[in-house]
Amino acid sequence: MENITVTLGERSYPIKISSGLFKDPTAFLPLKAGNQAMLVTNKTLAGIYLNRIKDSITKAGIKIDQIILPDGEQYKTLSVMEQVLTELLHKMHGRDTTLIALGGGVIGDLTGFAAACYQRGVRFIQIPTTLLAMVDSSVGGKTAVNHSLGKNMIGAFHQPISVIIDIDCLKTLPSREFSSGLAEIIKYGIIIDSNFFIWLENHLDEILALETAALTYCIRHCCELKARLVSLDETEQGIRALLNLGHTYGHAIEVEMGYGNWLHGEAVAVGMVMAAQTAYRLNQFSVVDIVRIKKLIMRAGLPVNGPSSMSPKSYLPHIIRDKKVIAGELRLVLPTAIGKSELCIGLSKEVILTAITDCYN
Ligand code: NAD
Ligand code: GLY
Repeated sequence: MENITVTLGERSYPIKISSGLFKDPTAFLPLKAGNQAMLVTNKTLAGIYLNRIKDSITKAGIKIDQIILPDGEQYKTLSVMEQVLTELLHKMHGRDTTLIALGGGVIGDLTGFAAACYQRGVRFIQIPTTLLAMVDSSVGGKTAVNHSLGKNMIGAFHQPISVIIDIDCLKTLPSREFSSGLAEIIKYGIIIDSNFFIWLENHLDEILALETAALTYCIRHCCELKARLVSLDETEQGIRALLNLGHTYGHAIEVEMGYGNWLHGEAVAVGMVMAAQTAYRLNQFSVVDIVRIKKLIMRAGLPVNGPSSMSPKSYLPHIIRDKKVIAGELRLVLPTAIGKSELCIGLSKEVILTAITDCYN
């Protein structure tokens, strides 16, 4: 088993990565016999994994309840989160309960936020089942739900007590969802790790073929990079913001196209090309590197152009509302080379619009 630690003092926690972990009751430590827990998942995952996980947790002597939510980004809302809170109250869960999120980023973000709010904060465990959740959303404690006016606009920083990654479950993940996760993986290469970008260029076919060695290395490496950034800057006062490369443009696509129609990773993929194009328009990024980025994104089965039904101008109201905006000043994460990026402040709307338009030709 691969073991990584997110170092945050008393709130440090392990990320365990292996095959077959779901069948291992010891994987669910630090839950102890007699503890109360609520497993939160969706209809799709309940049909595939719920019994397996429940068996293991019950074998460890933990009393477990469950709530099965509808499946989809459009259900990552306050009202669906309230259903989780209501179920916890109905089943008399106390402050010592633990929520267990079994699913992708939608279930993980919503369950984490419910855990942050229930009785002013209870423990939670992440069991990510998508590639995206394994390499990104399950680690770092960003929890949230969406609002019709903006993505992830209501949330809290609340760290899990453990992240349990069983790579076997990627075998049932639809290929479009697998590609969506590759966008966040490519992101790490662009923002901070040029050697990893080269590794991806050389090993992407093995990852797409679900070869265990390449997949395990890739997930482990991304978790290590994320753990390091989160340990340095838990609440995103500085370097953690780099993880948002492409997200400002991507969130605009997700909201405008209707939650769930463009997958998060698809929107981020186009957003990363737009960020590279913006950096190029500012004379801080080369055409050669834009071509490399687009090539890798396309090989991963992801788009590089904005949705045809969305005009370049329609991005701007969303970009202005982004969480990184301070005192009305636009801030975007832009690459300066492959493996290097920075938070750029005071960008003009004209440059951003030109760069977005470039991704429509
Ligand atoms: P998702 O949670 O919607 O899961 C994708 C789909 O795959 C769903 O239909 C799900 O039921 C299905 N699925 C999941 N695992 C499966 C499996 N093993 N086998 C078969 N089907 C499976 O999507 P996602 O891409 O995991 O997450 C996207 C969300 O994550 C977005 O809301 C995004 O904002 C959020 N996110 C959060 C962070 C963070 O730091 N908190 C980071 C990145 C993304
Ligand atoms: N996915 C962005 C972050 O965790 O900071």
